[in-house]
Amino acid sequence: MTISDDDLINAAMDARENAYCHYSGYSVGAAIIDDQGHLHVGCNVENAAYPLGNCAEAAAIAAMVLEGGKLIVRIAVAGGSADATPCTPCGGCRQRIHEFADENTVIITMDDSKDWQQYAIAELLPAGFHLD
Ligand code: THU
Repeated sequence: MTISDDDLINAAMDARENAYCHYSGYSVGAAIIDDQGHLHVGCNVENAAYPLGNCAEAAAIAAMVLEGGKLIVRIAVAGGSADATPCTPCGGCRQRIHEFADENTVIITMDDSKDWQQYAIAELLPAGFHLD
């Protein structure tokens, strides 16, 4: 089964609905298509001890790894509102995505208006860290 960009975006929007973000009030959903064509989703999960909160991208990547995915082919991140800046991945999540990305990986960002933009990882994280 092929997952279209619309399906991917809808999956990120659906995941966003489940965000646990009582402290910031800022919900984020992420959806990944991996190298096997499988879909993985995540949402942000905050904590009363603020630094323990997790980003949506981290949750989706963890789900991908758990199920054997090796490469992010496309990732959609849904957050923010039409009258604010769409949620682009935070610095830490850029490095998280970089770990499982190649030069063809597409990163889609959109807000609740479903207007979207797409980036390559090199645009979001030039000279990302590699351990080799
Ligand atoms: N957040 C994400 O889930 N992903 C990002 O890339 C940026 C920020 C979450 C973390 C926190 O729960 C909320 O958005 C506000 O920062």
